[in-house]
Parts: sequence; structure tokens; C-alpha cells
Amino acid sequence: MASLENKTARTLADLGATQPPQVSALFLDVRARFEADFQTTRDESSWKQFRDAWLGRKSGVLTQITDNWLKPAGPELKRVVGAALNELRAHVESQIEERRKALESGAEVTAAARERVDLSLPGVIRPLGSHHLIRQVFQQIEDIFFSIGFSVVEGPEIETLYYNFEALNIPEFHPVRDDMDTFYLELPKGAAQPLLLRTHTSPMQIRTMEKRQPPVRVIVPGKVYRRDNADATHSFIFHQVEGLAVDRDITFCDFTGTIEYFVKQFFGASVKTRFRPSYFPFTEPSVEFDVSCIFCGGRGSAAGGGTCSKCKGSGWIELFGAGMVDPAVYGFVNYDAKKVSGFAFGMGIDRLAMLKYGIDDIQVFFQNDVRFLRQFP
Ligand code: FA5
Repeated sequence: MASLENKTARTLADLGATQPPQVSALFLDVRARFEADFQTTRDESSWKQFRDAWLGRKSGVLTQITDNWLKPAGPELKRVVGAALNELRAHVESQIEERRKALESGAEVTAAARERVDLSLPGVIRPLGSHHLIRQVFQQIEDIFFSIGFSVVEGPEIETLYYNFEALNIPEFHPVRDDMDTFYLELPKGAAQPLLLRTHTSPMQIRTMEKRQPPVRVIVPGKVYRRDNADATHSFIFHQVEGLAVDRDITFCDFTGTIEYFVKQFFGASVKTRFRPSYFPFTEPSVEFDVSCIFCGGRGSAAGGGTCSKCKGSGWIELFGAGMVDPAVYGFVNYDAKKVSGFAFGMGIDRLAMLKYGIDDIQVFFQNDVRFLRQFP
């Protein structure tokens, strides 16, 4: 006997069904087959297969019956086949739809059970992070300078030779460039100009004065880069805060008063400080500002004998360079050097932090060891 697939693939004439009772018997077969197969659809994927096998437009069982039994049937039989087919279709469609709903609500129940939140379970404890010590020190410095009328500006870490050197009165071949030799970027051939990682935050003096007219009072926190060999107080990447104040009648006294106010606020009143004459092409006169070495108490010798490695035996640690803005610099930003005056400074933030918190190696700032970082919540 032909299987059901074979039967629906053949015409009624082929199957020898010429009378309504024979047609009814065939439909009974089809329905029995439907009921048997239907039992096996227990999950979503077998339900989909089943639906396509029965209702698929191209080759589903109902389409086959339409094409092979209904369409070729003579007018008499067509009426019988049409009625039986309609009844079968209604049954198949409603059963398949009901099973879909049942499967869906079953899946929902399972998902709800799976996703149920047990409020009695302990929560996930996420440890609170904190700012890196360098960021905390930036914040402290900013607060002190805010309190005396300075504002904060920031600038690019990738600079041009013009801003990093030339406009700061450091022409090509000036020997001071050797102290600040830096990392140059590899640029595609034909690039307009060489670019470098800024060696100090001083380029922002120029960028600020280009944009603003006096009075100017800004500080500039940021990262800087130099080809320095790493040791306890040197790193090839470190942090500076630049300061710049330009107005009418700013004097060297304003400068020293501002610096000493800052240092006492930052370190406390007991720290010993000194200004030393120095040289920067963009300040005149120029100074270095030192504080007494906290590691050896300013003696220059280590506790166990020998030279203190932090201050290299001098008893002092250099904190920053500074000075009165050289009038030549005003020429680069179209300020009238006869009318304005000002001071500038560039502090090494890592060294400030080391001194304040008794850290004896600058490298720990960059090693990201959480045992170090956790000490400064
Ligand atoms: C300058 O960078 C000048 N731009 C400072 C300045 C600004 C002078 C404005 C005048 C007016 P200097 O090279 O001395 O100066 O660096 C400033 C500070 O950065 C140093 O005093 C030191 O605290 C810190 N510093 C310098 N090199 C390193 C390094 N390799 N690692 C860590 N800190 C450093």
C-alpha cells in the first residue's frame, strides 16, 4: 500500500479514488497520520518542522492535497474534496497554533524559573576604586591655585617643534634642546612638519597667550615625555603642572609670594625651601625651586651610611623650574613686552607626590601594583 507521502503526491485518479466514500477514506488516513505525527512535536524546533511539513506553501501536505487531489478532480468529486480539505485545514491549523501557544508558555515558565531573583542571596560586592595618587595630587594643586584666582587649561601631548621649542625662545641647535631631547613621531613621508611628544607643559604658555589677552592666570596639568634614563627620581613619562601669570606690573615678589604660598599650603609650614639661580631660554631671570630632602632629613647621607640616593647627597630635591617670562616670548604671541610682565613655572608632580607621601621610587607610579595604589584610597 502506498505511504501517505506517496498518496498525497499522486492524483485521486492514480489512486483509484473515484467515489466520495473513497475520498473520505483517504482523508481519514491523512487525519490519522496527522494525529500520530503531532504527538512528536514536543519542542520549538520539532514544532517548526512539523508546521512546515503540513502547512508549507510549496510542498506541505495540504498544498499537495490541493494540487494533486483538488485541482485535477472532476466537478462532482471537487465539491467533496474541497469540503474535506477545508475541514482538515481548519483542524491542522488550530492544532498547530494551540501547540505553539503551549510551547511558548512552557518556555516562559522555564525562563521565569531560571531567571528568578533570589533576594535572600548575598549581593556581588564590587570594591570601590579610587583616584591614582598622581590624580589626587593634581586635584590638590588645582584647589590651591583656584583659591588664588588661577584657572585650569589643558593641551595636546603631541606637539610641534614650534610650540615645544621655537616659540619658547629655543631655536634649532640651541644647546638646551639636548636636555629635553624627546620622542619624535614616525610620520608618513611628506608630512607637513615633524611632531614630538611634548617634553614639558610650557608649550601651553604659548597656546594660552595666543588665545587670551592679559590678565592671564592659568595652570596646566598634564603628562610629558623625555628620553631620560629611569632611576628613583627620573622616568621617561612623568607629570607636570605649568603655571603662567601675565598682567601689568607683575613683579618677582608676586612670583616668589605665589610659589611660597603654594608650597606652604601643599607641604605644610615646616618644609624648608630654596630658590637657586638657573637658566631657561623662556624666563629671565630663571630659578630652580628646591625643598629639603625628606628621605635623609636634608643631611645628604643615607641612614645606614653612604650617600642618600634620593637627593644624591645634596640634601635638596629639585621640584621645579620657574622665572619671569622672558620678553622675547611675548614677541611670539603679539603681547607688548613694554606693557606686560609675568611669571611662569613648571612643577614635576611625581616628585611633589614622592616628597609629600614619602615614596622613595618614582617607578611605582607607573607599575600599577594594587598593593601600592590601595595605600592611597
Ligand atoms: C622644565 O620642564 C621647564 N619647562 C619648567 C619651566 C616652566 C621653567 C616655566 C620656567 C618656566 P625642567 O626640565 O627643570 O623644566 O623640569 C621641571 C621639573 O620636572 C623638574 O624640576 C622635575 O621636578 C621634573 N622632572 C624633570 N625631568 C623629570 C623626569 N625625567 N622624571 C620625573 N620628573 C622630572
